[in-house]
Amino acid sequence: MINMKKIAAEKACEYVENGMIVGLGTGSTAYYATCRLGELVQQGMGLTGVATSKDTEKLAMEMGIPMKSLDEVKQIDLTIDGADEVDDGLNGIKGGGGALLREKLVASFSRQTSWIIDESKLVAEIGQFPLPVEVVPFGHLQTATMLEKLTGEPADLRLRGDGEPFVTDNQHFIYDLSIGRIQEPKRLHAALVELPGVVETGLFIDMADRVIVGRADGTVDVISRQDLSYNRRK
Ligand code: 5RP
Repeated sequence: MINMKKIAAEKACEYVENGMIVGLGTGSTAYYATCRLGELVQQGMGLTGVATSKDTEKLAMEMGIPMKSLDEVKQIDLTIDGADEVDDGLNGIKGGGGALLREKLVASFSRQTSWIIDESKLVAEIGQFPLPVEVVPFGHLQTATMLEKLTGEPADLRLRGDGEPFVTDNQHFIYDLSIGRIQEPKRLHAALVELPGVVETGLFIDMADRVIVGRADGTVDVISRQDLSYNRRK
């Protein structure tokens, strides 16, 4: 069976050039990209990685990729990360793996961002995937009430397997919002981050320059933002 995540990840690594500072994403798709970049380093390519999570940092170090923190670099040349859902304007939901805050910071300081997904994640309108919202633990039940009031839908505290709250690398909690179709993601994001206690949302708007889609038939499509604006002008 074709591993759609792996073929997308390996295609994304073709855009990496010697000497680049590369943002390393989090999740099961980004895993393959970090492994491939590790192979490239072992073959002599000069790269520096900036991780979006502790898990990715550990994997990258095991793969022999020289690492720096976000504060140690001026800019990141290219970030390769996964996504949970992507619409045809290349806006997406991220944070299924709980790394949304670091992922958004790293992407924000990247000259280019590539998302790698399997074809099931391409959707007409985002929102079927529950939207992760990172919140501070202090008063989080009150924050959850505000989230529910704002969206009119339940906010579910993300739990670990043992029933305890999932805690992010930044020591925050995550609420997953089952909103359904999100027609105005920019407006929703702005309203959510206004709520006291909310640190970040999993709405990533206008952030991906390129989405690389692995398909079940073994092909890989590259959709770039440039092509979108060209097509819209026509
Ligand atoms: C982690 C993320 C991931 O990139 C996203 O959840 C996709 O994960 P996967 O590649 O495992 O499907 O945003 O916070």
